[in-house]
Amino acid sequence: MRFHLLTIFPDFFQGPLSHGVVARARDAGKLEVAIHDLRQWTHDRHRTVDDRCFGGGAGMLMKPAPIFEAVESVFAVSREERLAKGQRVVLLTPQGPLFTQATARRYAAECPELLLICGRYEGVDERVAEYLADEELSIGDYVLSGGELAAAIVMDATARLLPGVLGNDESAVDESFEQAGLLDYPQWTRPAEFRGWEVPEVLQGGNHAEIRKWRAGAARAKTLRNRPDLLK
Ligand code: 6GU
Repeated sequence: MRFHLLTIFPDFFQGPLSHGVVARARDAGKLEVAIHDLRQWTHDRHRTVDDRCFGGGAGMLMKPAPIFEAVESVFAVSREERLAKGQRVVLLTPQGPLFTQATARRYAAECPELLLICGRYEGVDERVAEYLADEELSIGDYVLSGGELAAAIVMDATARLLPGVLGNDESAVDESFEQAGLLDYPQWTRPAEFRGWEVPEVLQGGNHAEIRKWRAGAARAKTLRNRPDLLK
């Protein structure tokens, strides 16, 4: 899978790209990341990407022209052709629908190429959402100063679902949110006793049917306590 990141902070991604699963996926050739500096598609001396908001109000908006030109130069085909090839364009914005594990699964399964537009300033000219992006996406109900962190999160969650990226012993199938609507069960490692706190007895034995049952109950209890909204 290939990600395209459209940003005014191209250096931002050096950290997220060079550690852990994402770095390994790139090394293994399962993931390609192309970073595009939005200012490449400006034409004035100051390489302006923002402007004042019609109707007044504080703050600056990202102009449509550099974003449209950037996307049209990365995917130099008609929208129909682009969609037929599984090349998707996503605008990261706090006004988007929520990114979930299901979104990550859909991208990993259906999109060989995904271009993420990282919004900055107070927002992005609405014509980008309306006439350029295939979808908008938010990572949660809070406001970030820009879409770059959100893009790194979308890329991480998607990359680890690509075939051959995770090893067998770290497989993604029985984690939180992969089990419909339940958090993952709590887990312990050695020592069996630490500062007087003991690992649950049943997990120390070898009865796998009992362990499965215990984990199902513990996952439910954890979900009820921390995320009751998931059980509704
Ligand atoms: Cl995608 N962008 C920004 N700026 N803030 C956010 C977000 C995205 N998702 C949640 N908050």
